[in-house]
Amino acid sequence: MTKISESFAAFRERIVARSERCLENYLPASNAFPARLHEAMRYSVLGGGKRVRPLLVYAAGAALGIHESLLDRPAAALEMIHAYSLVHDDLPAMDNDDLRRGRPTCHKAYDEATAILVGDALLTHAFRILAEPAGLSPGQQLRMLATLAQAAGSHGMVGGQAVDLAAVGHELAQPALEQMHLLKTGMLIRCAIQLGLAAGGVAEDTRNGSALIRYADRVGLAFQVQDDILDEIGDISQTGKAKQGADREREKPGFVTLLGLKQAQDYARNLLDEALQELQAWGAEADHLRALARLIVERNR
Ligand code: IPE
Ligand code: IPE
Ligand code: MG
Ligand code: MG
Ligand code: MG
Repeated sequence: MTKISESFAAFRERIVARSERCLENYLPASNAFPARLHEAMRYSVLGGGKRVRPLLVYAAGAALGIHESLLDRPAAALEMIHAYSLVHDDLPAMDNDDLRRGRPTCHKAYDEATAILVGDALLTHAFRILAEPAGLSPGQQLRMLATLAQAAGSHGMVGGQAVDLAAVGHELAQPALEQMHLLKTGMLIRCAIQLGLAAGGVAEDTRNGSALIRYADRVGLAFQVQDDILDEIGDISQTGKAKQGADREREKPGFVTLLGLKQAQDYARNLLDEALQELQAWGAEADHLRALARLIVERNR
């Protein structure tokens, strides 16, 4: 269990290392047949990344007093789905990006067909990892599996990606843009908190459960607003992208296009305040959740 006295910096470093160790262990070995596919899966998951979603799972666990070993598989499964979403997001048929985390994207380092299969394999592997025995009750595991499926699929991330692609070249009004962001990015962020709630046996419609979900939704939206801001002004040596302004060039609707830079930054700040507001009834046990919300809005990569 997390010591509440642990600073956020120490928590972050420890949890990033812990989730990367778990991912290393849960992913197929790179020499296991078919080796090239497995190597490409490992390339896509283990190549850096901030590990924000695992951090949120363990921070929710700290708030609810859950033993960290119960969160290892849920956090890794969620991160695998996130990694798959990025591999597919970068494909020529989608955002057509050559660089991710400062390295060639999966389809550039390998090839397009391999990148499609890497995504397919990571998506299914995530569910396998979560379905294996892990000290959770079968009921908790089923709840997590259903939650993850809902967050990843057409009512969640994949649905948001479909809206994103259909919106290229169009102007979206703020409610439509918010809905798109809540789906494509927000649902996996909400899922991180939902997995923590499931591990703690806390129902989502309780006072604590619903406050954490509302926190997650503000944070999820803020996450994508900041992503839009960094696309426009982020230092590419930090963001690991090929260039600035790619969204604008591709006519992707985003918060910077809609509101302008300054207002988009204010909007992200407001969302942060609202997220923190949801945690008002919580004490120091929610400090890592508070620090993560700040990090998400204040990050430069
Ligand atoms: C990027 O996610 C894609 C979005 C959903 C905005 P992250 O910014 O979490 O990417 P990594 O995992 O840290 O590289
Ligand atoms: C991606 O959004 C959201 C996903 C579901 C992968 P973006 O397309 O803005 O993410 P980046 O900027 O390429 O990381
Ligand atoms: Mg995209
Ligand atoms: Mg993209
Ligand atoms: Mg982006």
